[in-house]
Amino acid sequence: MDRIRIKGGRPLNGTIPISGAKNAVLALMPAALLGDGALTLSNVPNLADVQTMTALLRELGMGVAHDTAARTTTITGPATAHEAPYDIVRKMRASVLVLGPLVARHGIARVSLPGGCAIGTRPVDLHLKGLEAMGATIAVEGGYIEARAPEGGLRGARIIFPVVSVGATENLLMAATLAKGDTELVNAAREPEIEDLALCLMRMGARIEGIGTDRLRIQGVGALVGGEHPVVADRIEAGTYACAAAITGGEVLLGGARLDHLGAVARVLREAGVGVAEEPAGLRVSRMNGLHGVDVVTEPFPGFATDMQAQFMALMCVAQGASMVTETIFENRFMHVPELARMGARINVHGASAIVRGVPSLSGAPVMATDLRASVSLVLAGLAARGETIVNRVYHLDRGYERLEDKLAAVGADVERMK
Ligand code: UD1
Repeated sequence: MDRIRIKGGRPLNGTIPISGAKNAVLALMPAALLGDGALTLSNVPNLADVQTMTALLRELGMGVAHDTAARTTTITGPATAHEAPYDIVRKMRASVLVLGPLVARHGIARVSLPGGCAIGTRPVDLHLKGLEAMGATIAVEGGYIEARAPEGGLRGARIIFPVVSVGATENLLMAATLAKGDTELVNAAREPEIEDLALCLMRMGARIEGIGTDRLRIQGVGALVGGEHPVVADRIEAGTYACAAAITGGEVLLGGARLDHLGAVARVLREAGVGVAEEPAGLRVSRMNGLHGVDVVTEPFPGFATDMQAQFMALMCVAQGASMVTETIFENRFMHVPELARMGARINVHGASAIVRGVPSLSGAPVMATDLRASVSLVLAGLAARGETIVNRVYHLDRGYERLEDKLAAVGADVERMK
């Protein structure tokens, strides 16, 4: 199993190109199930999760061709099968995003229930209730969700989400594009990846209003076609490297990153003493002086992203003063805390909040984590720590960070992958 070795203490300087967003492409690829022609995505990141989604779409009978040099993926249908097997879904929860498109286009889907994951129980009840409101019949049998559209196909509906859910918004948005009549999604998630999905669906012929707001109105159409769509830049990758620049006291240009997509993360970084400036080529992030402790609460976009919580906590470990980090989205998302503590961080967890008391420096150690963002927070801590840090279980990082060690080494980090 690969490991990453980091010798800390070097400020990062230079440009880091930001890849296409993992969470956008994982919704855009299933959207291809809806169209009659080929969907070509550009700016596609080369990530383990993209390979998993590729395997799933191929399992459904879709053609998926990656041009790695051009960074494009072309997906052709139609699907010839409708089952998302347990072996793929258990690897990646985003597999559930084939559910809405399959039911809308083919009238039937059988998708393994994802079950729990390292960061919490993560139910899919809102996805299922939404499809039911559109007339689908849902049964859970043998660990699988079986969904069937009524005769004549799904019908438009007014769906009010009691909780903001990225995945449920995406699944129902996709399903609604081919439903009969109008659908309204109220209290919809507003993450930039949803906007990206909606823009792609529009290119395929969908009729959607309210893009970028928490109220999406979809007028169902008879059919969608293929199209071309560039994947939006990954705001979480950008935020992660912003923390890398900040924790090492460097200055980096995050190529292609957008300030408006960082939401509260940009504001909080500035409050902590990090310069964040938008330039034509991307975002310039710099830290000239000391870091200050800032309190954060994770929230749906544009609030502070839960996917940035672990990385920001790593930063707060070396800030002056204290910081309270409250996680409101997932119930078990502090697995990085004991590992950061092994590197000398002072953190106490009280329920959903962690109090971080900044220390002058961290010290390198062998560490590991059980999910993607927790793993990368340990890389950040390693970049700032005295001595050597070995991050184990690198396959978590490979799910969501493209060429992490190359990107960091190119801006001056002493980091290498050990096979
Ligand atoms: C997506 C992201 C993930 C991010 C999360 C929150 C992808 C592939 N993944 O995950 O990286 O951390 O958004 O920004 O885009 N919930 C329910 N019932 C449901 C669905 C969700 O109760 O049917 C709850 C969840 O348990 C959680 C909250 O709603 O507490 C938000 O989850 P959701 O936005 O759905 O996350 P995902 O789409 O799974």
